[in-house]
Amino acid sequence: MNALTIRDIRDMKGGQKIAAVTAYDHPSALLADGAGMDIVLVGDSLGTVVQGHATTLPVTMEQMIYHTAMVSRAIRRALVVGDMPFMSYQQGTTAALENAGRFLTQGGAAAVKLEGGGTAARERIRALVEAGIPVMGHLGLTPQSVHAMGGYRVQGRQQADAERILDEARALEQAGVFSMILEGIPEKLGKAVTEAVAVPTVGIGAGVHCDGQILVWHDLLGLGEGRHPKFVKPYAHLARTAKRALKAYAADVRQGAFPGPEQTYN
Ligand code: KIV
Repeated sequence: MNALTIRDIRDMKGGQKIAAVTAYDHPSALLADGAGMDIVLVGDSLGTVVQGHATTLPVTMEQMIYHTAMVSRAIRRALVVGDMPFMSYQQGTTAALENAGRFLTQGGAAAVKLEGGGTAARERIRALVEAGIPVMGHLGLTPQSVHAMGGYRVQGRQQADAERILDEARALEQAGVFSMILEGIPEKLGKAVTEAVAVPTVGIGAGVHCDGQILVWHDLLGLGEGRHPKFVKPYAHLARTAKRALKAYAADVRQGAFPGPEQTYN
């Protein structure tokens, strides 16, 4: 099967919904691609779900390139998008171009994603697109602005905020994004944005009307043991399964039941 391009993703607007997931390493990416995902995002969410930080802010460019390269080596069909980490594009267009370019040249990604819809973000997006680097936008709850937002809260509940997000979505489209993530907004606003722009929207906690959906790998597979946000549907409970297997292994080792004759060289 051919690798999907940004044109294929753009053409999915209003048609078959886009199925997307995050992945951070080679074995996960093999599974995601084999399952037929359209987009695999190497998200800076790895800061929380892989590295154990409270926020995504400490994630560095070196770490993102390292993980993106692992993922890209596994992917045959999905579009690989690399997530630009905090302070890799906020400082200016030169830095944004240099860092985004590394996702393509060293990470093997086909596109990058960056958060925000203000004038600075739009200026960076225009410069990247002009340089031939496809960009996915990200509006609504933007985790890199956790402190500015006063925590991880649903955005766009107030009329003025909803209008701002709608305006930003139109502006991102003008700036040249091929698609955009809508995170943590009411379903009604997800629908309004999806109808207002000609590029596909990919929702996470943005309701069913988006052109596609994305979930974080660990949430989708039930790899976390704590409570999960309302918008998450765990399609498996792998943490429970893994714990059962690990306990059975430890018990076998302690009782001398592993290795058995089948696992032993004579
Ligand atoms: O970093 C990430 O995984 C993301 C998704 C939640 C969209 O930005």
